[in-house]
Amino acid sequence: MGTIIVNCKNYPEVLGEGAVKLARAVKKVSDELGVTGVTVPPTPMLSLVAKSGAKVYSQAVGWEEGDKTTGAVIPAAVKAAGASGTLLNHSEARVSPGVLAKLVPRLLAAGLEVCLCAQTSREAAELALFGPKFVAIEPPELIGSGMAVSRARPELVEETVVAARRAGFKGGILCGAGIVTGEDVKKAVSLGVDGVLVASSVVKAKDWEAKVRELSRSLR
Ligand code: G3P
Repeated sequence: MGTIIVNCKNYPEVLGEGAVKLARAVKKVSDELGVTGVTVPPTPMLSLVAKSGAKVYSQAVGWEEGDKTTGAVIPAAVKAAGASGTLLNHSEARVSPGVLAKLVPRLLAAGLEVCLCAQTSREAAELALFGPKFVAIEPPELIGSGMAVSRARPELVEETVVAARRAGFKGGILCGAGIVTGEDVKKAVSLGVDGVLVASSVVKAKDWEAKVRELSRSLR
């Protein structure tokens, strides 16, 4: 079963109720097509979006622990809000390797799924050793560019699949950055990934459901 993760970032279209509508579209299409659909809403919308019944991840979590942690997005709060997991180390929210080494085991022990983002195949293989549910390769220069990683950097996607599997990784391998069309997804799947991590092509689409369906159909 393929996976599509839709990262809302903080695009204005999804800062409020829009995030709930988008998540409903992702859930409807993923249920219909039998793929795993995850919505990653703006952090203040986590709880509301999760209450809609959609599968949601947090955009990131902090390393802080305990109750006297004003302003931190702590893993326990993300879980209590109804998220089933989190993105981590996105290129817009990088985390040091030392912090990841402590934080990922804590998240897994708490029963949260983790999608670790990497910028290179080498980084992906290193992160795979933490045993996350997903590793996602995203070259930062293609993010939001409309030029799909699967077409512009196919060798990077292939190298990542080889490197992560060689490291013994059994989880899902995703690719993201610039993915806009079903053909971009088809090409990604042909390079060996299990799914895609997308943002602007969905959030900026006039019809969210139609765009998610177009991308998801190519995952099957
Ligand atoms: O997290 C996904 C994101 O970084 C890719 O962005 O807009 O190129 O799909 P986009």
